[in-house]
Amino acid sequence: ARTAAVVPAAGRGVRLGPGAPKALRALGGTPMLIHAVRAMAASRAVSLVVVVAPPDGAAEVKGLLDAHALPERTDFLVVPGGASRQESVQLGLDALPTDYDIVLVHDAARPLVPVDTVDAVIEAVREGAPAVVPALPLADTVKQVEPAAVPGEPEPVVATPERARLRAVQTPQGFDRGTLVRAHETVADNVTDDASMVEQLGLTVVVVPGHEEAFKVTRPLDLVLAEAVLARRRL
Ligand code: C5P
Repeated sequence: ARTAAVVPAAGRGVRLGPGAPKALRALGGTPMLIHAVRAMAASRAVSLVVVVAPPDGAAEVKGLLDAHALPERTDFLVVPGGASRQESVQLGLDALPTDYDIVLVHDAARPLVPVDTVDAVIEAVREGAPAVVPALPLADTVKQVEPAAVPGEPEPVVATPERARLRAVQTPQGFDRGTLVRAHETVADNVTDDASMVEQLGLTVVVVPGHEEAFKVTRPLDLVLAEAVLARRRL
């Protein structure tokens, strides 16, 4: 079974504030995307990484991959992305050679995921799960609200799901390739993760333990945390 990783990196990263596309911003002096690609290539099981670049940034991303040291045993491909994350993942899937039967989808915005998490996801797919997500229990209680008609107005709470049964889901998410391709062909709704498309096919998605360091760099404070995690690793 050969494993490839698709890394969607085509988002603007608006919530992070003004600047370059999020994946191209530096973390410890190295673009976030390069950290994410290295995190995938760190797994001995991963032999191909497909990076989905900003639509007008494929040449720039190709240049970045060439300029940074990456493992020799891994192949790299760059394809231009789309308007939504889903479309970007689809374009990455379209570029996969036929001989890959396990696919990881990993956000460029999760640059620090440890290799043990990557390997645990791959292992669960190898053992037969069609879809696997790494996830953590929540620290916060979560409430479902009725979104305010006027932004800034107080929002009524609709429900409080039992926290012990909730998980915050990370990436890489791992899939049997045929299943993920079918999910992308079948499900048209706008979703925020790939596994939910597989759920909509009626298949069971399983959870393996995620890792605190696999957090998503979304807001400015996340960059501060990511820099601190990197600095600690370099000690
Ligand atoms: O917006 P969000 O944080 O959910 O984005 C998750 C990942 O999807 C990021 O790595 C981002 O670059 C990627 N993405 C993409 N194409 C888009 C939008 C987001 O590849 N059109």
